[in-house]
Amino acid sequence: MIQNDSDKIEQFVHLESRDYPILISRNWSYLFQHIDGNKKRKIVMITDDNLKRIYQTAWCNKRHNLYTYIIQSGENSKKLSVIESIYLFLKDNSIDRSDLIISFGGGVVGDIAGYVASTYLRGICLIHVPTSLLAMVDSSIGGKCGVDFAGIKNIIGNIYHPEMVFINPALLDSLPEEELKNGMAEVIVHCIIRNRWLFDFINNHLEQVLQKENDCINLILYMNCKIKARIVEEDQYEKGIRKILNFGHTIGHGIEAESGFLLSHGQCVSIGIMGAFIIARKMNLLENEADLMTVQTLLTGVGLPIQYQALEPEKILEKMGYDKKRCRNRYHFILPHRIGSVGIYEIADEKIILDTLKELKQL
Ligand SMILES: NC(=O)c1ccc[n+]([C@@H]2O[C@H](COP(=O)([O-])OP(=O)(O)OC[C@H]3O[C@@H](n4cnc5c(N)ncnc54)[C@H](O)[C@@H]3O)[C@@H](O)[C@H]2O)c1
Repeated sequence: MIQNDSDKIEQFVHLESRDYPILISRNWSYLFQHIDGNKKRKIVMITDDNLKRIYQTAWCNKRHNLYTYIIQSGENSKKLSVIESIYLFLKDNSIDRSDLIISFGGGVVGDIAGYVASTYLRGICLIHVPTSLLAMVDSSIGGKCGVDFAGIKNIIGNIYHPEMVFINPALLDSLPEEELKNGMAEVIVHCIIRNRWLFDFINNHLEQVLQKENDCINLILYMNCKIKARIVEEDQYEKGIRKILNFGHTIGHGIEAESGFLLSHGQCVSIGIMGAFIIARKMNLLENEADLMTVQTLLTGVGLPIQYQALEPEKILEKMGYDKKRCRNRYHFILPHRIGSVGIYEIADEKIILDTLKELKQL
């Protein structure tokens, strides 16, 4: 169901147990209306030090029963010690099950806040207010949350859905350019797995998209959330089809780990997308080889890398071995048939992956 008012776009994630809205609007009052429906509850706002000022400007003075917890920005905060500090903060402020946690931030804040909300008192209400493009189109939808542990990303976590996702596209105005590009990598992943039309739209309006022109951004946000929501509805616990959201991530995670996290997640996914297309071509899965060049042109146009000079194929393969996408000595890959359609494959032959990594170095 879609409702379109003049200044809001609303859609829903339909779960077996309940539905929740994803509301896109530049008008904060839609969020306040939702929160004010229950004036008694305390609100715990979790945000990071980059976003503190933005959030205060947007709405801090509008509420009195607000408790703010600020984490340091960056992946390094996704750890159990930070979770523990937040638990203490909740206990010291007598937060109970009738209260509400709001995440105001990118994927890091969202993953932390979601994990806290899912575990404290066995679960308290949660609203995501994503502020990065990646969080708006991806991490705030679908319930995955958690932290890194023993050097492994997202190894401790949960699936816990919010009561609402509120997306204010105006927040993208302050988002650093590099972070916008990172988010675009996930946007392109969604297009390749499910929507050729949107891929072509972005290709044809790239300048407006990168300039964050309102109509283009609204369309991208709406359609990407829809792609993610439909996949989550089909397979909430990633037993099957939800795996396709990992398109580009198998090689991407290998490069991310091998680069010592010097390259951003979006940059690694971008290289991983090219890797997936090359493997698909080698396995004769690609219906139209021209798609590879089309994707390469868009990634480059966005300003994302398509190869990594310092890439050492054997070491990346080794790192991929630690990744959860490898199982029973087979590598799990999501491979394209064409832009807009992918499939799930297991590859036992390491040579095909090594050859691809070598080819990636020469792109
Ligand atoms: N739960 C999921 O389904 C899921 C999916 C994908 C990624 N993730 C996780 O998301 C994280 C990455 O998220 P991210 O890319 O948003 O990174 P992030 O949360 O670290 O945000 C990137 C940077 O941008 C800043 N920022 C965010 N919004 C801003 C704004 N509006 N204005 C100014 N600065 C802003 C942040 O302070 C941070 O410095 C990773 O930890 C990843 O594992 C989770």
